[in-house]
Amino acid sequence: MNYLDESYWTQRYEQGATGWDIGYASTPLVQYLDQIENRDLKVLIPGGGNGHEAAYAFEKGFQNTFLLDFAKIPLTKFSKSNPQFPDENLLNEDFFTHEGVYDLILEQTFFCALHPDQREAYCEKMKTLLKPNGKIVGVLFSIEFEKQGPPFGGNISDYEKLFSKYFDIIKMEPCYNSIPPRRGAELFFMLQNQ
Ligand SMILES: C[S@@+](CC[C@H](N)C(=O)[O-])C[C@H]1O[C@@H](n2cnc3c(N)ncnc32)[C@H](O)[C@@H]1O
Repeated sequence: MNYLDESYWTQRYEQGATGWDIGYASTPLVQYLDQIENRDLKVLIPGGGNGHEAAYAFEKGFQNTFLLDFAKIPLTKFSKSNPQFPDENLLNEDFFTHEGVYDLILEQTFFCALHPDQREAYCEKMKTLLKPNGKIVGVLFSIEFEKQGPPFGGNISDYEKLFSKYFDIIKMEPCYNSIPPRRGAELFFMLQNQ
């Protein structure tokens, strides 16, 4: 299987073919971040692209926020438009080889960018990146797409089967505060490392 590599995604950024980028921090993640009291949490946003959620988290006091993407173009752009965000928190790395430990990992259109055959590997890697009791929180598509992905969709029962092998599923439910174009097509989920 040929997985979508860094050159595929870099090309998408070069061509401006970034239809996934909503241009602002996604509402479910914003509202989740807003209600967290402890802003010292170490937060990772993998496959974070242009980093709208990273900019939001940092601005709201999550100073230990890390934005990771193996495509350099969005990180360079992010760095220019967010000069206050520490360069050392911009990780131009492959998620699958990244090393680190986090309290919270935010999921926003990264899981759906990976080929479904990589989903087990995603879970295994996430497990190594989370502290005990650390959480993955975010949104997943709850629909299948007609066109060949990315994005690759899915459904709640497949997700539950997959994630329950690795994590406690704290929440997995239709997302009530999706952005308008994704309404009815997303799940909000929260997984906790055992
Ligand atoms: C669909 S885009 C989503 C970007 C961002 N989360 C957003 O919502 O705008 C997927 C992103 O994941 C990145 N990506 C895909 N596979 C990756 C990997 N193995 N390691 C790091 N980044 C990866 C791509 O470069 C791309 O920026």
